[in-house]
Amino acid sequence: MCGIIGFAGRENAVPIIVEGLKRLEYRGYDSAGIAVYDGAKFAVTKKKGRLAELANEVDTNPISGNTGIGHTRWATHGEPSDINSHPHLGSGSRIAIVHNGIIENYKQLKEWLEGKGIKFVSQTDSEVIAQLAEHYYDGDLIDTVVKVTAALEGSYALGIMCLDEPNIMVATKKDNPLIVGISSKGNFIASDVPAILSHTNQVYYLDDKEIAILTNEEVKFLNMDKEHVEKSVETISWSLDSAEKGGYAHFMLKEIMEQPKVLRETIQAALAGGDLIEGLDISAFNKIVITACGSAYNAGVVGKYVIERLCRVSVEVELASEFRYKDPIVDDKTLVILISQSGETADTIAAMREAKARGASTLAIVNVVGSTIAKEADHTIYTSAGPEIAVATTKVFSAQLILLYILAVDFAVKLGKLDIEGKERLLAEIGALPDKVNEILESIDDIQKYASQCIGYKSIFFIGRNVDYAIALEGSLKLKEISYIHSEAYAGGELKHGPIALIEDNTLVVAISCCPGLKPKIFSNVEQVISRGAKVLFVGTDSVDEDDKLSLIKLPMVEELFSPSLSVIVLQLFSYYVAANKGLDIDKPRNLAKSVTVE
Ligand code: G6P
Repeated sequence: MCGIIGFAGRENAVPIIVEGLKRLEYRGYDSAGIAVYDGAKFAVTKKKGRLAELANEVDTNPISGNTGIGHTRWATHGEPSDINSHPHLGSGSRIAIVHNGIIENYKQLKEWLEGKGIKFVSQTDSEVIAQLAEHYYDGDLIDTVVKVTAALEGSYALGIMCLDEPNIMVATKKDNPLIVGISSKGNFIASDVPAILSHTNQVYYLDDKEIAILTNEEVKFLNMDKEHVEKSVETISWSLDSAEKGGYAHFMLKEIMEQPKVLRETIQAALAGGDLIEGLDISAFNKIVITACGSAYNAGVVGKYVIERLCRVSVEVELASEFRYKDPIVDDKTLVILISQSGETADTIAAMREAKARGASTLAIVNVVGSTIAKEADHTIYTSAGPEIAVATTKVFSAQLILLYILAVDFAVKLGKLDIEGKERLLAEIGALPDKVNEILESIDDIQKYASQCIGYKSIFFIGRNVDYAIALEGSLKLKEISYIHSEAYAGGELKHGPIALIEDNTLVVAISCCPGLKPKIFSNVEQVISRGAKVLFVGTDSVDEDDKLSLIKLPMVEELFSPSLSVIVLQLFSYYVAANKGLDIDKPRNLAKSVTVE
């Protein structure tokens, strides 16, 4: 979703902002823009489309200034267009803003301002912020920001500049992320760390309703009563390399290949002595609810199978967007597990707050340190995956699975469902996963070859049972996200209740089979679809006899509960190579955003 970068420094802000915007591209966007104070006015360049268009424009018609703000826009109110792109200026061109979020009462505010003769030029909700700020401004930008934010309903991360105070930049936020970076050449605001990582690893995480005031020399923080807020600077451990493609054609492929390392580091961090989650007494709960969105939800479905099997505790998995509105049955005897890469997904944040309001304990599995979910949940554990840039998640999903397995083992021991021997055996199985993932990555050519024959399919089905079904959901999501091929995942047993009607000559079915006890069942599904003309890619730990209708990608032997960590690698690579063979923009699939910060 929208991305913000701002710089107040001692050199031209434009190249810094353009570079920052490039590093925000992965969040998903359809237009971009920059405003800098050029010594007399705001010089503004905005362009619909890819960032290259904006970069071209500032090359051809240069603008410059040492203080400026930039934005990548993912349209919510008003089509993608030059005019709807940010930054937005008030009609007197004295205030410039960039905004990430949604202003829910923008219509009322707009009508009110229009009633005073103020002319709006865009269809966006965000322009109202610039117009309102300009209307309220009476010589003190901080006072103006306090007044404006008091009038806004909804969510926002904001960067604001004013022509009358050209050497400061003001930032504030509510329910959308914003960080402040400091460096010797100047100070930054940004939606996330990769945007500024090439300049600094020293950041402050802004909390809701805090105001940051940046000049080229210093950064100050205030609350909405204009009182000083003491914040501590944090050092980011992510390396710049982790935000670069490093010779790979796409970030997605790089991130797939990083998985053995990510798994190893996540396992090490989780098992590095002490209690996995201090102060969490699992025996105090009679139910676990996992809630998340997208792939994180699919990780939750795997988690349900694993936790229920090992702990004999009932686990519900809910889409966060449904959980928040369903009057959920959770109370102080419920543990609610939130899973989120970004820690900023609007629905997952709302689900967490709903669960807390109902007295539940919350445990978050998050990748981004300092994110809203990481900070607000009662307990947080981190996936040690580093920055994930491709919109379609791979390495973070895998790290989420690992933490869910380790949690399940930990809970099972504490609940007396697993003895020490059992624990050691399962932890050894988890510890062996990175090498087994490596083994699969070494046979990447077979997957690539198979995928290259699959670009013509209009529809692809994924089937599995138990954890194989859970991972089929992820395989199907991955494929549709990046290859734009229609695809659906079904539990094998459901095939005869509908989807079999869609099987015809040369439909492709991907069958996942890593649960030895269920192999005969899934294989009979395979035979049923082949006899109706389908082709099948069988991804499993057992052999099958291949022929022109049935192909096999064989996985290393593994404890079945943890097999999703292996089958998912094949499914990720399959999707990747189908999309690559179609020549698609894999890291930035159309219409999708990495972090869905609006509802
Ligand atoms: C988007 C991303 C997915 C991600 C989902 C949830 O749809 O493209 O990769 O799984 O959001 O995001 P979160 O940051 O909460 O994991």
